[in-house]
Amino acid sequence: MVVQQKAARGRWAMRDYPLVAWLLAALCVAVVHRWLEESDWLLLHMVLLGALTQAIVVWSWHFAQAVLHAGDAPGGRRHQTWRLALLNVGAVLVVVGVPTRVWVVTLVGGTVVATATTWHGWALWRMLRRSLPARFRVSVHYYLGSAASLVLGAGLGTWLAYLPDGPLHGRVLVAHALTNVLGWVGLTLTGTLLTLWPTMLRTRMDDRAEPWTRRVLPIFGAAILVAVAGALLGWSWLAATGVACYLVGLALFGRGLWAPVRRRPPSEFAPASVGAGLVWLTVAVAWVAWDLARSSDWSLIHEELLSPAAALTIGLLQVLLGASSYLLPSVLGGGPSVVRAGQAWLNRWWLARVAVLNLTAVLWLAPTPWPVKVVAASCGLVTAALFVPLMAGGLRASLRARAEVEATRT
Ligand code: HEM
Repeated sequence: MVVQQKAARGRWAMRDYPLVAWLLAALCVAVVHRWLEESDWLLLHMVLLGALTQAIVVWSWHFAQAVLHAGDAPGGRRHQTWRLALLNVGAVLVVVGVPTRVWVVTLVGGTVVATATTWHGWALWRMLRRSLPARFRVSVHYYLGSAASLVLGAGLGTWLAYLPDGPLHGRVLVAHALTNVLGWVGLTLTGTLLTLWPTMLRTRMDDRAEPWTRRVLPIFGAAILVAVAGALLGWSWLAATGVACYLVGLALFGRGLWAPVRRRPPSEFAPASVGAGLVWLTVAVAWVAWDLARSSDWSLIHEELLSPAAALTIGLLQVLLGASSYLLPSVLGGGPSVVRAGQAWLNRWWLARVAVLNLTAVLWLAPTPWPVKVVAASCGLVTAALFVPLMAGGLRASLRARAEVEATRT
């Protein structure tokens, strides 16, 4: 399925620039992290709440329109611009409020993020209600579950910023992280990969993937509720059970991704990066389940979750870079030759980029000496950051190719 919408083509500032701005800001924080208070939190939230959340709202809207064959509703693009603006203002307030410990700013930011997400979910639900039956409408059910998760997750995050250190802080921290990661990010990702994965591999999907994805949604939903309830109640065994059930759901869902990759192994940056990201995500979720199963001291859980949180961020960053590399040239549109011109840039040195990023991530997370960690982190960051100049080159190439196409037409 070619995921393109006519109305969304061309440049659109509120859709295209915040992602790059958040990634650049995260890169700056990574460079000066030693001298910055709460730099780990800041970095994590610039990637997850800033860049990834922006990408989720943009792409889930785009995919919902594509799978439901829904055109732009009146005011659709204007409303989406407002939603994205609200979301980014809220995210900026949160990343200012939490590290400076000015809770009112966090409260306003968290409320604005939750409001923008509720609006997003409401707009998707209306699109679903208006549309005719469509084969992949299950993806939009995933997006609705995902939006509900962020509303809850933003509430828990705002509460967390208010709480002093202690066991309750640890419990809410785990509930917040699980809601956002398994719900907001996980459900969007699985709902989207159903169609995006074979599209990126440029092959057919497995016919059984859609019913499998439909059947696994209640498992994901129940797993998230059990995990979050377990964390809030302080029953780590229950939280671990919820996360383990989520892993079972992932395995059942993942069966649908296997046939396309066997038929056509990745030969471009996008599927290779997303595939590597998925492996990291699965490892991170299993790691969290293991940590929860072993530990019952909620005051110490924060320390234990740092490494799986880092693995998770590495995974999500790769999914984000991979999916954006495929999707941005596609939505800029202009015809196959224009899209190819943009994607050619984003595919440059793809194998080396994916290999270096993953190797350096393993070296950084493993118990290696400090100098190895510094060199690995620096190489990994430079490799990831290559995305920005390559994206700029891709944009320029697309514009040049589009001008050439138009010149030959006239
Ligand atoms: C309104 C939005 C949000 C607020 C107010 C918020 C706030 C917070 C706070 C206060 C903490 C605990 C910091 C500490 O005590 O060390 C935290 C941790 C965390 N948050 Fe958020 N957050 C938000 C959104 C998100 C999103 C969207 C995600 C993921 C997609 C996320 C993932 C995490 C994770 C994984 C941790 C645990 C990190 C660790 O182990 O250090 N947060 N957040």
